Amino acid sequence: MPLVSDAFIDGRWVPGAARFVVRDPFDDAQVAEVTDCGEAEVDAAIDAAARAFGAWRQKPALERGKLLAQLAAAMLRDERRLAELCTRENGKALKEAVAEVRYAASFFDWFAGEAGRAYGETIPGSRPDQRIVVTREPVGPCALITPWNFPYAMLARKLGAALAAGCTTVAKPAELTPLGALAIAQLAEQVGVPPGVINVVPTTNARRCGAQLLASPAIRKLSFTGSTAVGRELLRTAADDIKRVSLELGGNAPFVVLADADLDEAVAGAMVAKFRNGGQSCVAANRFIVERAIADAFVARLLPQVQALVVGRGLDAGTDLGPLVDDRSVAKVRRLVEDARAKGATLLHDAPIRGRLVGPVVLGGVTPAMDLWREEIFGPVIAIRTAADEADALAQANDTEYGLVAYVFTRDGARQQRLAERLESGMVGVNTGLVSTAQAPFGGIKHSGFGREGSRHGLDDYTHLKYVSTR
Ligand code: SIN
Repeated sequence: MPLVSDAFIDGRWVPGAARFVVRDPFDDAQVAEVTDCGEAEVDAAIDAAARAFGAWRQKPALERGKLLAQLAAAMLRDERRLAELCTRENGKALKEAVAEVRYAASFFDWFAGEAGRAYGETIPGSRPDQRIVVTREPVGPCALITPWNFPYAMLARKLGAALAAGCTTVAKPAELTPLGALAIAQLAEQVGVPPGVINVVPTTNARRCGAQLLASPAIRKLSFTGSTAVGRELLRTAADDIKRVSLELGGNAPFVVLADADLDEAVAGAMVAKFRNGGQSCVAANRFIVERAIADAFVARLLPQVQALVVGRGLDAGTDLGPLVDDRSVAKVRRLVEDARAKGATLLHDAPIRGRLVGPVVLGGVTPAMDLWREEIFGPVIAIRTAADEADALAQANDTEYGLVAYVFTRDGARQQRLAERLESGMVGVNTGLVSTAQAPFGGIKHSGFGREGSRHGLDDYTHLKYVSTR
């Protein structure tokens, strides 16, 4: 299938007046030249989504579900090409890209089933002649703004839910990685999703595009994944038109290892929670909090695994960590490590930075005064602080304005319950470093946002309840 790089509006591929270049983060090679949507294209996409809404919402839910199932199957059939495309625009290791394609397809598959399960309810009335019926209706055309770290999956879990609910969409992918969203649109077109239901508007002017989407009365909902700073700004703007909003924002995940943990399990969890996608994930473990009694033993088991990680070109066989996505990301990791070292952190493992290839770093003796304890690292850096006991570990873990995910390792069932209940986050991984899966509600609390993606709750953000009282 040919690489598509035009915007996708109303079922047509639109070259647009301006173009921008997408480059491979590994060597800056040109991957594609993509339509740079301006106001006219974004307006056309909004109009198309608004026009398509009436027919799409009327389509029987099972038929919408069937199209989603076909889209999932099409992605899996095309897995290798899609994964390579992802590695080329994002840099991630090919095996991570393959995992991402499967993860993205799993959302289409999940919501294929959920489309037919958008159940309403009947409620006993307050008079003998009153009938109360509650139905779920699609909120309307939705704006979906997605980040560069998982170009397929972050769109799929919004798009799957929106389409299942009967909403139409305008998707604005990240400037660094627009090709994933366009590839999904191409497959959707192929399986027969009608024109206007999915529109994709790549742009170099995210701020203007976001403002335009939010200013349009036709757009009834915004779903955004990205930084807390941008999410806050979008939320303020969305208030003007009282639009529905869901926000999946930054994280600062604690990774707690208690003295009774199975250390092999904890190390395996740490490798996933930290190095999945090179640490460029909102659910990446950011703060390792290890009970003092086993801290040395944990580090001793961790280091050989960290040292074995292969850093290189994402497309090369055997690569574990591809390049970070851009120079800004590299500079941030460098700054955070330098700051930590200047404030007294001990370097337990280091790797040279070559271009955008950033090897794993392990730091001990970390304190809350260090910037990396407060900021999302978004890179392959393990920052370890010790805790005196369970209570101290819990206090440290909750000492953040973020609340997306927390990880805890302990063999004690009572501690598992206690910590899962007391950790302030939308998700908790107990003895696992990976919580993401289509059938579970993904999302955060506090400054990590609100709304849930995936699971049966994923439809809620794209539907409203209508109550009909009949006499
Ligand atoms: C994210 O980094 O925003 C999400 C990653 C995931 O779905 O696991």
